[in-house]
Amino acid sequence: MQPMHEDFLSKQIAMRTAKLEIDYEVYSSAEELNASDRDLLQKARDVTSKAYAPYSHFQVGAIAHLEDGTLAEGTNQENASYPVGVCAERVLLGNVAMLHPGQPIKTLAIAYHNLDGDSSKPVSPCGMCRQAISEYEARTGRSIRLILSGMEGAIFIIQRAGDLLPMSFGSKDLLGE
Ligand code: THU
Repeated sequence: MQPMHEDFLSKQIAMRTAKLEIDYEVYSSAEELNASDRDLLQKARDVTSKAYAPYSHFQVGAIAHLEDGTLAEGTNQENASYPVGVCAERVLLGNVAMLHPGQPIKTLAIAYHNLDGDSSKPVSPCGMCRQAISEYEARTGRSIRLILSGMEGAIFIIQRAGDLLPMSFGSKDLLGE
């Protein structure tokens, strides 16, 4: 048997660190976007007004540009029983799955209007929505490009939504692939 300190040392040597990095584009305003991205973002900003957010006053709008050219939308739908509320992204995904079955989403623009505060930083989709969007990418086999913004100011573009959820749990884990 090895003395304890040697055992400890050998474990230290076996350990390695790994790093995760993602690339994303940063724009300072919508004027810097190409015409179709600018148009999609404007629609996401406009649709925030259809949110039902009487509790948070944080209105989120999502617009998907589908592969066949169709647009689909979603807004957050809150509830007096708070956990019942659904985010804009998952309302949108439900719409797409039912009304446009099998259609890949090419680009998804998400914006928010914070009625009580600042709306100039790019929206940060919640973890549950990242999981749901990643599953939609997996089930269609196509990556979803994200345009993230508020009502004004900076915009982030991410080429693959799944990049926002590294080491995610998915069907591969359930099926043991
Ligand atoms: N919300 C969304 O709809 N999408 C996001 O990406 C972030 C948060 C909603 C949930 C809730 O209705 C309100 O914003 C405040 O959290």
